[in-house]
Amino acid sequence: MPNIDLDFVQHLTLEERAALVSGKDFWFAAKVPGVDKMMVSDGPSGLRKQADPDDAVGLNKSVDAVCFPCSALTASSFDEQLLFKLGNHLGIAATAENIGILLGPGVNIKRSPLAGRNFEYFSEDPLLAGRMATAYVKGVQEEGVGVSVKHFATNNREDQRFTSSSNVDERTLREIYLAQFERIVKEAKPATIMCSYNKLNGIQVSQNQRLLTHILRDEWGFEGLVMSDWGAVVDHVAAIKAGLDLEMPGKGAESVNEIVRAVNDGHLQESILDKAALRVLKMVEKWQPKHAVNYDKEEQHDFARQLADESIVLLQNKHHLLPLNDTQSIAVIGELAAKPRFQGGGSSHVNAHRLVTPLEAMPASATYAQGYQLEHDKIDNHLAAQAVELAERSDVVVFFAGFPEAMESEGFDKQSIALPTNQNDLLDQITQANSHVVVVLQNGSVVEMPWANQVDGIVETYLAGEAVGESTWNILLGKVNPAGKLSESFPLRLVDNPTALTFNTDRDNETYHEGLFVGYRYYDKKQLPTRFPFGHGLSYTTFGYQGLNVENQSDHVHVSLQVTNTGERAGKEVVQVYVQNLVSQIEMPVKELRDFAKVDLQPGEATTVEFNLPRRAFAWYNSQTDAWQTDNGQYTILVGSSSTDLRLSQSFKLTIGTPFLSRITGETYVSDLLANRTPKIDQALETTGLGKVFDQLLANQANRALFANIPLRSFTVTGVKPETISKFIQLVNN
Ligand code: BGC
Repeated sequence: MPNIDLDFVQHLTLEERAALVSGKDFWFAAKVPGVDKMMVSDGPSGLRKQADPDDAVGLNKSVDAVCFPCSALTASSFDEQLLFKLGNHLGIAATAENIGILLGPGVNIKRSPLAGRNFEYFSEDPLLAGRMATAYVKGVQEEGVGVSVKHFATNNREDQRFTSSSNVDERTLREIYLAQFERIVKEAKPATIMCSYNKLNGIQVSQNQRLLTHILRDEWGFEGLVMSDWGAVVDHVAAIKAGLDLEMPGKGAESVNEIVRAVNDGHLQESILDKAALRVLKMVEKWQPKHAVNYDKEEQHDFARQLADESIVLLQNKHHLLPLNDTQSIAVIGELAAKPRFQGGGSSHVNAHRLVTPLEAMPASATYAQGYQLEHDKIDNHLAAQAVELAERSDVVVFFAGFPEAMESEGFDKQSIALPTNQNDLLDQITQANSHVVVVLQNGSVVEMPWANQVDGIVETYLAGEAVGESTWNILLGKVNPAGKLSESFPLRLVDNPTALTFNTDRDNETYHEGLFVGYRYYDKKQLPTRFPFGHGLSYTTFGYQGLNVENQSDHVHVSLQVTNTGERAGKEVVQVYVQNLVSQIEMPVKELRDFAKVDLQPGEATTVEFNLPRRAFAWYNSQTDAWQTDNGQYTILVGSSSTDLRLSQSFKLTIGTPFLSRITGETYVSDLLANRTPKIDQALETTGLGKVFDQLLANQANRALFANIPLRSFTVTGVKPETISKFIQLVNN
């Protein structure tokens, strides 16, 4: 391969350079003399290599590949090491198939429970999404395969995804919708970023210079390539100018002519085109697949099972019904046991290597009844009667419920998060026939569970990948002790979610009225109960928390505590650290997840868990100064087993940020001044005599609040001379 640099690019013809910034076809980057074309492929949960270059939508089956659990489930592992290994496996599969760039992971925030693609995304929380995806990206790239982190940004609905504008205020954008991308870019250095279809605040993302260049490259230091989502480019010349390097898929000759014309007409500077063309060549140079190797798909299948084992969430376990034992007679009810939902629809769809259904993996003591049909939501009386009869004569019932494929996919949003009527109705009958019922859920995102109080057990398996059957029974039978935690809140009802008011009501605009208050940030603030809160997940053992200690260090806050396995069996616990900001006088969630760790403990074993929280863990984005701001002052550290099961808390004064009153002006309120006294302020109060005046006026309880609520400049109303106030301000600021 020649030396790829600007000089090389400048020696290419204009047509060759124009051809480079548009894909060769659906899956290949264009080639130029001396540089081979390179193939890209979906996807996040398993390789979807379409062997036919013209098959964009997967009309034909993609190559045989292991289907891993979807990101909604893998995020529930809260386990970065596992996500790193997942990345390794995907990288190995991609190398074997001659793929240079894997189109994933998808890291958008789950804003609305109705969003069709939630299954493909990690979380409602940017810290969790960012940490999981960073590990995944590092894992893929360690194998010499690049990634495309998508969909940058604010692509949080599917309906009209090509045209609608996501309207988001700056602080919300930075804190909620960009923070995970920022972490991945800075920590994992992804090969490429895929820009999304939608508009952001009215500007098409594919031609949004602020996002693609100013924020991504200038602020975050991104050095890779920006490609478009498939068909996201509206005006290719404008897109290149804004910072897009590669349009996908290519539009052939038409695309080349368009660029050549723009250069010749003076609408596009050659230097800008050259930069984009260079990035394409650099990507191909760096990530050109190495020699294809064979890989062991059975080993990957085992990993898919392990990943699901570690991620499945035990939501409810009344009367310790679970784990089941195989001497019990078990009724397995529901067509999803035989035809499981184990992966999402759309571009992430994998031609699974070896699916093991729950029906195939069930123990000998279990008997199956179909119960309902997935094809429609009408009750089938015959199937229902058989299922009820089976439930009546069994010790326990395992009821498989979930969203049928037609209800949930990329490309469109849901209308409801209720299960199909035939499933809810049958479950109602089953709970009357047998009081020991466990519901196993297969779904891409949150479900309403009006029946939750009628059943003992609820197990959330999401879309668990091709080893779904094995993992489901590993959890049900206690071969694996569940350790997954929800990466999203399950509301009691869809209408409890703030986006239910306006989501998808406007074809052209999706306005993020709720601002920062996404997921638990909203339910916390409104004090709304949820069905299951963010971070929730049970175990077959129990954990005790003690000895929280919080200390300011030179540039971080050190948090430590002990966790003990207080139960009878080995198990893993996800220790969650939330920060509550009590000082900044701005809109604030009640608390935010700022760190977590998964610990593995034998019965009776204790361990010390330590966290180092950086300044950013206490920061908020100040859109007036366009900077992250960390205010010194009062905070609480909350540690627990879920966002509502908080076991320990400690208030402390942060000192590693900036003082709340960094500059005192005439607009500074007396109350703020007195609450943030420093030796310098005290000295100036004394020198000017202002201290005495304050003491006198504020001594009177009745007037205290009134006087404290006056800014310095207006304190003249109490008879203080303007010169005294100016003098005071001058002294404290000097
Ligand atoms: C999806 C992307 C995907 C691409 C290629 C698009 O429709 O939004 O996530 O990578 O297709 O299949």
